[in-house]
Parts: sequence; structure tokens; C-alpha cells
Amino acid sequence: MCGIVGYIGKKESLPILLNGLRRLEYRGYDSAGVAIFNGEKIKQVKSVGKIENLLKKTKTENIFGAVGIAHTRWATHGGVKEINAHPHADCTGKLVLVHNGIIENYRELKTKLSAKHKFISETDSEVLAHLIEENYTGNLHEAVKKSLFQVQGTYGLVVMHVDHPELLIAARMGSPLVIGIGEEENFIASDATPMLAYTKKVIFLEDGEMADITKDSVQTYNVQDNFVSKQIEEIDWDEAQAQLQGFPHFMLKEIFDQPTVFKDAIRGRTNMEEGTAHLGGLNMTAEEMKNINRIILIACGTASYAAMVGKYAFERLSGIPTEVDVASEFRYRDPIIDEHTLVFGISQSGETADTLAALREAKRKGAFVRGIVNVVGSTIARETDGGTYIHAGPELAVASTKAYTNMITVLLLYALQFGRSRRLSLATGQRLLNAFLEISEKMQKILSQNEEIKKIAEKYKNSQDFFFLGRGINYPVALEGSLKLKEISYIHSEAYPGGELKHGPLALLSSEFPVFAIMTKNQLYEKMRSNVEEVRARKAPVILIATEGDEQAKELSDEIIYVPKTMELLEPLLNTIPLQLFAYHMAVILGKDVDRPRNLAKSVTVE
Ligand code: F6R
Repeated sequence: MCGIVGYIGKKESLPILLNGLRRLEYRGYDSAGVAIFNGEKIKQVKSVGKIENLLKKTKTENIFGAVGIAHTRWATHGGVKEINAHPHADCTGKLVLVHNGIIENYRELKTKLSAKHKFISETDSEVLAHLIEENYTGNLHEAVKKSLFQVQGTYGLVVMHVDHPELLIAARMGSPLVIGIGEEENFIASDATPMLAYTKKVIFLEDGEMADITKDSVQTYNVQDNFVSKQIEEIDWDEAQAQLQGFPHFMLKEIFDQPTVFKDAIRGRTNMEEGTAHLGGLNMTAEEMKNINRIILIACGTASYAAMVGKYAFERLSGIPTEVDVASEFRYRDPIIDEHTLVFGISQSGETADTLAALREAKRKGAFVRGIVNVVGSTIARETDGGTYIHAGPELAVASTKAYTNMITVLLLYALQFGRSRRLSLATGQRLLNAFLEISEKMQKILSQNEEIKKIAEKYKNSQDFFFLGRGINYPVALEGSLKLKEISYIHSEAYPGGELKHGPLALLSSEFPVFAIMTKNQLYEKMRSNVEEVRARKAPVILIATEGDEQAKELSDEIIYVPKTMELLEPLLNTIPLQLFAYHMAVILGKDVDRPRNLAKSVTVE
């Protein structure tokens, strides 16, 4: 959600900045802009829509120079218009900045500044440019610092000024910023992907910190404006990982990544001899683990459906009462938490504002707070007192797929670890681990049905509504299948536990209303079968996910997708994949922008 890229060095900055913005496209945006110092003045180019529009404009604008900043904007304050796109300048045009986040007291500040300053946009961000101008007496660092003390809200901010052509100033409060360290060049961006082609060495800014960046140095300061020495970290994602690798869309590539990244999530984390998992990042003593009497899993969207699978696993394997809380609800309901509560925040981006706020609240109330996160060095990863990376690699499609399966994998490993430290037998632990070892191959088998699943999507492309039904551990799978379909193909769909159908939703069913039902061979098979019979009796077309070898299931279905048998707790790792593929093909067939669906952002850093 909004992306920042900055460059200071000796090279031509425009291609670096535009390529950087492309790497951040996954965050979602509706306009983009760039500002470059050409040795005399700062020149800006902005455009609404895709980065390609910006690129076209820069070709006619003669914009060049070795110091620059760029931004993709996702509209919050002010419509999608060129004047609202970043960068924003002060009255003189000498100071230019890009900003992510929200300035909450911008109205008040704008009223005060309006007497002397001319505003041209409707944004909260422009206020920052004029405020810094107001406070500027020759020292840019001082002016930025003073201004930030007058601001309430969140920011990831990068400022440049004609009087200080060798300097970029960055500041962070609530919106992530990463500095890339190069040779006679430095970078700044909302995450590390824009700089991966140039450097793997990065510094993560923390909330309250500022940095003065030149081409040869990076000076970082804490909230009291004292110099702080920051650790330079090495990022291990390479650029190729973030590319399409021959797939037409990132979503399809990421669906097909699942057998590989699943292995990455379990590698080195299991112990077959003891039938358990070892997730070192938990950072809890055996005594502390024993004293936990409640687990809360906090997440949003797809991550919350992964959490629902986690609830089943924790309760079944460890016997610890486990709740799932949608982060945006948790933070406002005064939850009951004590020092025996373990809270996991589950997030692909590690930046989701609601999840972050909920975790801070849980921490304040004394819980053990841990993260299950994909993006290395993200805010949730750093603010929690431990946790585990899910190792899904860069997920660039807005719709989450491989991060979801890897979140489930890590939750299952945690559930196993807690289970084995309590009531779970060695034999059951080992059985689960053996089943784990077969998952990657079984995922591959499902992916080999891609073409058949595409044909099913083709057949139902004119349907206006879908139901997704599942029971037990497959209810979250139904929720996830339904979310995938609606978010990328914009088709209305709803998910229900099979048993709920007759309590109302059944009234909607007709021959025009296809129903996906997950009816794999587990302890609820017969129950689910009855639900499918109810659907058939209303003449609704039935698309079944069934276990290989279940010949009877054919009689109940109009379409059938077979999945290999696995242990019930692991079923979501397999059963979700056909639903991801179905949603993907439906969106492609309907001509939708699969990787960047309308109105959605990859990283939701506002409440
Ligand atoms: C749906 C999707 C979203 C995210 C949600 C949480 O495909 O991707 O529902 O799961 O916005 O995001 P993270 O996991 O980054 O906290």
C-alpha cells in the first residue's frame, strides 16, 4: 500500500527508481511519480494509473540526474488525480518529498500553514512539505526533525532539497523503510525488493528513527536525535526468485511454488526420532511452555483462515484451548489476556496495521507474543519477541496463495511441538511427520490437474454466484476458496460449514447456483455427504473435492477433482490448491487483472 523508492549515487537514477517502483507494484497503487535533482533544480513527473504511464511521460520530459525519489500512491486523502500523486513539493519547489502513511492532524496543520503557504493537492502528505519549509532555516535534518514532532500519525518519509543535493533524509513511524547499502551509492525503499538487483546489504529503520543518507554514508538517529549505530543485515532472497519464471502471472507461479516452498518451511524444523518439531524462534523455556493455558491466533483475511486451521491443530494435538481473532476486532474488544496466554500474529507482509496494533495490545497486556511471518525484517517480525518465518519467498500477487499454505505448515509444526511437550504420543507425532514428508509430492499431483480445473472454470464462467462448503478442518478451506474467487474474479461467493446450509442459505440454491463441496475421506465424510445430498436435491450443480479412489463421490457430483489421501489435519494443505487454481482460471477467463485486483492492496498498512 503505497511504495517509496529513493536513490543517491553516481548512476542515472530514473531507471533505478522506475524499476524499483515496479518491484513494489504488488502493494497496490493508483498513481505514481518521480522527482530527480538535475544539478540545478528538482524536476518532477507524475501520472495516474500504471507505472508504464509514468515511464511514457518521463520519455518526453527530459528528466535526469543521480539523486531521486519515487512513489506509488494508493489514494486515501484526495482522489486519484495527478496533483495528488507524490512527490509533493514546498512553495519554492526546492524541497520535495514522498510519504507513506497518514498525517492525522493534517487539517489543523493545513489551516495554520495556509496563510503563508500555497497548497495544490488534497492530500495530507503535502502538509509535510510545507511544514518542513516553514521550519527550514538552512539545516534540513533539523527542519525535518522539528516538523515530525508537530505531526500526529504515521509516516515513511523521504525528503530531498536543492540546497542539499548530496543528501536524502528518511524517517519512519509506522510505515516501513529499508536502506540499501551499495558502493558509492545508497538506496531507500518501502521494502528490500527494489534494491535486490544492486545490493543485498540492508538496514531496517525502526519507528521513531531518522537517517541522513548520502552516496557514501548512512547516519541513523533515534527518536531523541542521538546517533545510533545500526546493524547491516544480509537479505537472502535473490531477484530471480521474485520474477515470473515463465508463468503468465505471479499468482499462477506462486500456486505452483507451493510444493517447493512447503519443503522450505519444514526444512531443519522436524525431528523424526522424537516425533516432534523444533521451532527455535519460539524463545520459551520448557517451563513457560508448560504454563501456557490459552493460545490466541491473530490475523486478517487469508491469514485468519490459515489461523482457523491452526486452531484445530493446536486443540487436537496439544489440548490447549485456542481462539482465532480477526485483528481488527481483537484490538477494540478489550480482550482477556494474562501471562499464561500465548499470542501468535500471523501475517505474510508482516506490516498489516490491524495485526500489528493487536499484537502491541496483547504485549501491553502481558501475553507472550510471537510472529508467524513471511517478509524477513518486517515490522511484525521485529516487534514480536520471537517467532518463525514461513519461508514462502516473495509473494507478489495480491491474492495470497503460497503464504497461506506455509502459514498452515508452520502452525502445524507449532501445534506438534506443543502437543509433544504435553499429551501427544511419539507414534502420533511420527505419523504426522511421515505424512508431512509426502505433502510436497501430493501437492504436485494436484497441480498436474491444472488443465482439467481450467476446463471446469470455463464451464462455469457465466455463473453469478457460488457457495463453498466444508466441515471441520475444511471449513477454513471453503472460506479461503470463496475469498480467492471473489477477490480476483469479482464473482459473488460465500462459504459455509456444511451443517449450516439448512439454517438459511439453502433458500438460495437453484440450478443456476454452483456449489463447491470439500468432501474428502475424514471423520466428517458421512456428514458432508448428507450436506451434498441436500444441495443436489435443490438441483444446484455440485463441484466436489474428493479423495482419490472414492468412486461413489462421482454419483453425487457434476464435476469432481480428486486429491490424494493424507492425515485429516494436513488436508487443508492439499484441498485448497484446486480452489486456488479454479479462482485463478476464472479470473483469467473473465479478463481480470489477476495479480492486481481492483481496490485491493498487498500490504494493508492503514487501519
Ligand atoms: C487475500 C489476502 C488478504 C491478506 C490479508 C492479511 O488473498 O491476501 O486477505 O491475507 O490482507 O495480510 P498479511 O498476511 O500480509 O497480514
